[in-house]
Amino acid sequence: MIIAAGVVFFILIGILTIFAFPHFSPIPYFPSNKKDIPLILTALNLRDDQIVVDLGAGDGLVVFEAAHRAFQKKLATRFIAVEINPILVFILHLRKLFHSNKKNIRIVWADMFKFKTIEQYSNMTIFLYISPWFLEKTLKQIRTLPGKKTIVSYYYPIKSLRPALTISNGVNPIFVYPL
Ligand SMILES: C[S@@+](CC[C@H](N)C(=O)[O-])C[C@H]1O[C@@H](n2cnc3c(N)ncnc32)[C@H](O)[C@@H]1O
Repeated sequence: MIIAAGVVFFILIGILTIFAFPHFSPIPYFPSNKKDIPLILTALNLRDDQIVVDLGAGDGLVVFEAAHRAFQKKLATRFIAVEINPILVFILHLRKLFHSNKKNIRIVWADMFKFKTIEQYSNMTIFLYISPWFLEKTLKQIRTLPGKKTIVSYYYPIKSLRPALTISNGVNPIFVYPL
């Protein structure tokens, strides 16, 4: 009994450490507001020949909702969830197991600033909900990815770009930037 309690205690400490240390999560985990999901899906503009990448996917709220919408619409859209936090990566894998559209979802345990994909799609849409002071660095990284790219930034605008579309009738704004 005491051993079991000790094991649970150390697991909890481990989880707290992973969430607290900047090395694992320089950008804190905070999910998009659920009320904004329909607007986020509009901004993602799901299509067949498209890959949607969530850089810093958290527990996958956006990726899984978008993949479900693609499944309902019988779209061949592909999804990549990139996440650095191992606990969240574990949760992403668990959630993927039970997802209707799991064959089109890839989970990648990686640092978004080093993320590369060899998948060639004519349209890549990158979803971002990250701290504003990391947006320019992320933009640099995104420019190195292949193909035509569109960034959908939730909550924070990218100062160096002019949005083609701003959705501001939700809880938080959404900015769309074709690159
Ligand atoms: C604000 S949350 C957004 C979660 C999700 N995209 C959403 O909208 O619900 C940011 C996420 O980025 C992850 N993150 C932080 N730094 C990262 C990095 N360098 N590479 C990949 N993911 C990172 C955090 O662990 C966190 O889950």
